[in-house]
Amino acid sequence: MKGDTVLVTGGTGYIGSHTTVELIEAGFKVIIADNLSNSKEGVLDDIEKITGVRPAFYREDCTDRKNFGKIFKENGIDAVIHFAASKAVGESVREPLKYYGNNLLSLMNLIGLMMENGVGNIVFSSSCTVYGQPKVLPATEESPRLEATSPYGNTKRICEDILRDSITAYGNFRGIALRYFNPIGAHPSALIGELPNGVPNNLVPYITQTAIGKLECLSIFGDDYDTPDGSCIRDYIDVVDLSKAHVAALNRMLDGKSEKPYEVYNIGTGRGVSTLEIVKAFEKVNGLKLNYKITGRRKGDIEAIWGDPSKANRELGWKASRPLSETLRSAWAWEKHLASLEK
Ligand code: WQD
Repeated sequence: MKGDTVLVTGGTGYIGSHTTVELIEAGFKVIIADNLSNSKEGVLDDIEKITGVRPAFYREDCTDRKNFGKIFKENGIDAVIHFAASKAVGESVREPLKYYGNNLLSLMNLIGLMMENGVGNIVFSSSCTVYGQPKVLPATEESPRLEATSPYGNTKRICEDILRDSITAYGNFRGIALRYFNPIGAHPSALIGELPNGVPNNLVPYITQTAIGKLECLSIFGDDYDTPDGSCIRDYIDVVDLSKAHVAALNRMLDGKSEKPYEVYNIGTGRGVSTLEIVKAFEKVNGLKLNYKITGRRKGDIEAIWGDPSKANRELGWKASRPLSETLRSAWAWEKHLASLEK
């Protein structure tokens, strides 16, 4: 609730920074811990410009339990939101040890430090990737978690189990896992957004970098799937809507409304949208023509997934509300903002 202190690990990252803005605007005190391996400290200035508040910042790595523990000793923390993790699917296939080492050890250290310091609430950043290619759509929280299609996806599934089993065994803290579908877009201020390292893997940053001329041409990975227009289908969730879901999950625990010590929620729109539909919508709302071509399928891509968010709608009192057109406009505004900084 208002005034409580929240430690946000990975808080200078894409979803972490947007969630920090929503937390501050909801009256929480925020401490960010980030090792800056995939984000910039300058994001703190932008968060301050948006909210008028500069969150406390520790440049620490969750895998370094001793130094990370300082944060708990120096602050009274009421809850943790854990974003800090490696998250590039392709890289995880090439470097599984880095992914298992970083993602699992970070969470285990965090849980240990929470228990040592009496911190009773954690929101964990999980992913719809745990569902693989569901046999039945939309995916609900009861949909089976299938064999992961990448070490990255497997770390999300294992981390959910680490969290669940720790809560069951030790019983002295509560947790909520949020399974994101596909986060896209940027803050309406265009001051924060997605900052991919190098050439983007994800669709929307690839689109905006193609539109601004940083990249030559977007490849649409396959139009021969068993979908209406042949391209893959995903549930694209606006990053600000997604961030608000974290505040709602936190409040559920802090206000003592959790029905079980470990709960899981799908955070999506409930709507499936194809790659080609995203491209066409982006062109339309931003009044531009995108250079793209159809190429072969990308290894590891699933054909179609979208979520059933009704449990989150009901129990968290949260619902995705930002129209896709606004989200795609914000993604383009953010890319143009980045270009203006490079001038
Ligand atoms: C979306 C669609 C591609 C790029 C991954 C992770 C997931 C989450 C989000 C972290 C697919 C198509 C993409 C391009 C394309 N990550 N595409 N050309 O693979 O659904 O999900 O990122 O939490 O866990 O698995 O997202 O944005 O890479 O792809 O045609 O240049 O766009 O085939 O259908 P994905 P994506």
